[in-house]
Amino acid sequence: MNKQSQWKSSTGFILASAGSAIGLGAMWKFPYMAGIYGGGAFLLMFLVFTIFVGLPLLMMEFTVGKMGKTYTTKIYEKLTKKKWLNIIGWNGNLAVFILFGFYSVIGGWIIIYILNVAFQIVTFSDNTLGSIKFESIIGNPWLTITGQGIFILLTMIIVMMGVEKGLEKASKFMMPLLFIFLIIIVIKSLSLEGSIEGLKYILQPRLKDISMEGVLFALGQSFFTLSLGTTGMITYASYASKEMTIKTSAVSIVGMNILVSILAGLAIFPAIAAFGYNPTEGPGLLFKVLPQVFDQMAYGQGFYFIFLILFLFAALTSSISLLELNVSNFTKNDNSKRKAIAIYASILVFIISIPATLSFSSLSGIQFGAGTIFDNMDFLVSNILMPLGALGTTLVVGQLLDKNDLKTHFGTDRFKLFMPWYYLIKFILPVVIVLIFVAQFI
Ligand code: PHE
Repeated sequence: MNKQSQWKSSTGFILASAGSAIGLGAMWKFPYMAGIYGGGAFLLMFLVFTIFVGLPLLMMEFTVGKMGKTYTTKIYEKLTKKKWLNIIGWNGNLAVFILFGFYSVIGGWIIIYILNVAFQIVTFSDNTLGSIKFESIIGNPWLTITGQGIFILLTMIIVMMGVEKGLEKASKFMMPLLFIFLIIIVIKSLSLEGSIEGLKYILQPRLKDISMEGVLFALGQSFFTLSLGTTGMITYASYASKEMTIKTSAVSIVGMNILVSILAGLAIFPAIAAFGYNPTEGPGLLFKVLPQVFDQMAYGQGFYFIFLILFLFAALTSSISLLELNVSNFTKNDNSKRKAIAIYASILVFIISIPATLSFSSLSGIQFGAGTIFDNMDFLVSNILMPLGALGTTLVVGQLLDKNDLKTHFGTDRFKLFMPWYYLIKFILPVVIVLIFVAQFI
């Protein structure tokens, strides 16, 4: 089946792009970043960037995909007749490749936690969830390499068999269930003694906590959660039918992402305060704090298990979009090569994910630039390649594409959004991205 003719209805497209967007970014990365960069101040910056930068950029990527209707290492040439501009597509391809490398590390942790809650591979010292020791699990290189291998394998099988559609259907009930679970965790977390301090920490923006670094990471975070600048969203939009609604889809994806990020923050920070954790724990934050919260619930182990399955599902709907982008760029719409490319790409990703995972054990001493190897991979993708890719696309759309053509693909414009959106893309956002980008090197 030709991928280009898939997704006859808008629903498939929305489910897939929401699936790509909502994943580890909102639930795992947001709380730990907010913990490091000032809590409420970070949340505020993240909201501003997501609404005023992320949303218009998402609309832009959808419009480009809808106009170009081909894979992203070709689409720029097709739209502008300038072959060298395909470099923006290659930049995106490189970004998702590295991103998948470190994403799978965390996907692997979820799998290990699932197995651990079910079978106690690393024994809980006093038989409670609260005694799960993050460091002893994640510090075990073989265990984590196996975990991420399973995560990559699962992603590969889904993409190879082309069963994404089934997954999208499943997300219709898995996602709402995830929301419900997050709300339960928030309620539990808020009921803990001493939780109010944590609530204040995440909801009160203290201006003195805003740093230049925080601004940069908040922008990177909004790119990361919305899958922007990697051309992943362009790929999904290129598969969609003509009836796809750019504005409604983009607004609902941004809205859901903000909601999940805030819920994750409300679930984690009150518990951090109640249990006396340090908000600047880093990537392990969620994995350290949540077992403690579930430990306080009746049937906590069962609930935690279900939550982890839902969490894994959300991570998988994102990782398939990472692999899918590679597959679509290398098969060039020839689906007979789909299986082989999915396998090669997955093997390569597995190889580069090994140093990322070892950043938490045997290679933890290697520190440079942004921190460990894992931190540097994340920094390279979220703070360099994604903004660069988005910048490239804003320049193409604002400077090279025909305004009327864009308007046609933007769709019916009941709320007169086209002109403000167009000027934002043409004049303002490129400057904003460049300024923030340059600021990090000063
Ligand atoms: N948006 C995804 C998440 O938050 C990550 C992602 C980035 C997926 C880029 C695809 C492309 O988990």
